Parts: sequence; C-alpha cells; structure tokens
Amino acid sequence: MQNNNYKASFTSDNIASASQEVMEAMIQANQSIAQPYGSDELTAACEERFKELFECDLKVLLVPTGTAANALCLAAATPPWGSVLCHEESHINNDECGAPEFYTNGAKLVNVAGENSKISAEHLQEKAGLKKGDVHSVQPSVVSITQATESGSLYSLEEISAIGRIAKAQELKLHMDGARFANALVSLGCTPAEMTWKAGVDLLSFGATKNGVMAAEAIIVFDLSLVEELEFRRKRAGQLFSKMRFMAAQMNAYLKDDLWLHNAGHANAMAKKLADGLDRFPQIELLTEVETNILFCRLPERTIEALHSQGFSFYANRWGKGVCRFVTSFMAREEEVDDFLQAIAKLHSQ
Ligand SMILES: Cc1ncc(COP(=O)(O)O)c(C=O)c1O
Repeated sequence: MQNNNYKASFTSDNIASASQEVMEAMIQANQSIAQPYGSDELTAACEERFKELFECDLKVLLVPTGTAANALCLAAATPPWGSVLCHEESHINNDECGAPEFYTNGAKLVNVAGENSKISAEHLQEKAGLKKGDVHSVQPSVVSITQATESGSLYSLEEISAIGRIAKAQELKLHMDGARFANALVSLGCTPAEMTWKAGVDLLSFGATKNGVMAAEAIIVFDLSLVEELEFRRKRAGQLFSKMRFMAAQMNAYLKDDLWLHNAGHANAMAKKLADGLDRFPQIELLTEVETNILFCRLPERTIEALHSQGFSFYANRWGKGVCRFVTSFMAREEEVDDFLQAIAKLHSQ
C-alpha cells in the first residue's frame, strides 16, 4: 500500500521508490538458485531485450550506480594521458567525487562550452583535435554528453549526430550519460537506436534507478572492441555483482510492457503541469523550458521560505539567489502538484 501522506517533494527523482513490478520481479528471482556473476538466465534475457530495443548487436554490463557506469565507460575510452571532453555542468564534472579521474587513472576532464547545459558542436570542433600528438598535453580521447542534461534540456538528434561526426573524424569515442535516458526518449519521440548508435554513440550509461528500479544501471556497449576491457575493469572496480540476477530481474521488469516509458512519460507530464501552474504567477520566473522532468525557476525569497516551512521540499539558492530546481519523478501525483500550486496561490494572495 502506497503511503500518500507526505508533502510534495521535488528535490530529485531519486526520492521515488521502485515500481511495484520491479519489486515483484526481485521476489520472483529469489525463489530459486542461479549461476553467479551474470551467467544466469535473467542476465542473458536482459541482454537479448536490449538487443531488440536498440536493434543491433551490443553488450550489456549491469552495475549498481550511474557513477560506476559513467566512470567505467570513460575508463575504457581513454588512456590516463587522455582527456574527456564534457560540459561544465555535467554530472561527471561536478557530482561524482572524482570517480572519472580515479577510474581512468587520472585522465583530465576538459570543459566544452554550450548553451542549456549542452556541448555545442562549434566549441567541440575547436577542442576535439587540440594539441594532438603534443607530448606536453593530454590527448583528447572521448566526448561525454548527458541526455537528458542535468538541467532537463535535450540534445536533438541532429545535435547528437553533429557531435558524433566530429568525434569520429577526430577518432574520439562518444559516451552518453543516460541517467534520464527514458525521459529524453519519450520527449523526443524517437527510437533508442536513433538517439544513440545511429548518431555515433559508442557507449551508453543507461539509467533506470531514477525512473523505477531499486538499484540497476546498464552500460550498453555499441563499440564491441571495448567489451573485454570493460569486463575486466568492472571486476577490478568491485562492481561485478555475484548475484547479478537481482539486477537483471529489475531491469527486465523495467523494460517489460514499456514500464520505463510509461514512468518517464508520467514524470515529464508532471513537470509540465508544474511549469504551467508556476507560469501563471507573475512573481515567478521560469528559467528553463520544460523538455523533460526538471525545471528551474526564480521564486521570491519569502515564498521559498514559507513553502519550506510548510514542509514542501525542493532545492533553492544553490544556482543563484532565488533560483529553485524542481524535479518530478514517476511517483509524483497530480494532487501533490495541485497542493503545491495552491500553497503558492495562498501565499501570494496574502
Ligand atoms: C546526469 C546524471 N548522471 C549520473 C547520475 C548517477 O548518479 P548515481 O551514481 O548517484 O547513481 C545522476 C544522478 O543524480 C545524474 O543526474
């Protein structure tokens, strides 16, 4: 039974529980013994499902966190003297405690500018071949983009392809941090293949934890030359689960009957509803266009304080005075959004 007895929280999509179907699949996986370390039937079925979904041959490596997925992908794509070209606002640059640098044995993260948290092809072009062959400089090795980005924006298919073409021309790998892959996919309305390998992506961190599983992310390897190294690196990093079937069970349930797309569609719809509601208040300034499940707004300081003291939760003032971030999850309820908007209406009528 779901406990609906809490005030709306828009701090993160990580606050959501796991979908019921996912928990049931784990209980089901608990009924028998199975081969360890991924040699079980559920893990094999998981890889088959991903092959169908992405319409190509690929390798799947399940790991428990998005940070592990990102850091392992990058480690396989760059030597220690290489550089990872990424946006300043990227999760790998700001929120992984140096894991990419640690896993790569010290490769350098080099920022590439661009609007809306996205690397621009023009700026990438300037940096992609910089100081190649110069023994005094790190060597550009891999480009990493986030889809959807940390601010909820989206790369269009054309933008990903343009980045993919530059990466290919400069012999760089292209990694996609897809912590919110499903939110991006339902918003763009394209196929998983179009958003990845068809646009030049070699490695994908396929996120699921924010959108309905308990703890499972998939490294999807399109460039099969990287598989062997990734396998060894995963074990060496302590990320090879012996009871892999439990992660596979979660992922299989997540992908079954489009649960992942349904969850992401709902999360995105709740962000849109929230944005439309907030937009009606002249005191509130919407700072981003809502493309997925994240939005940024500027609220009056006294409104922020009053909402927090009433028990609503969301991050404020981290990105500038009055700037608030709202993230909706698949569990966000219409009534929560209404309740929140009513609370603001009441404050602004006083
Ligand atoms: C863009 C992005 N990438 C990756 C992650 C994965 O993080 P974690 O290691 O907490 O699963 C997150 C989580 O906040 C994220 O927002």
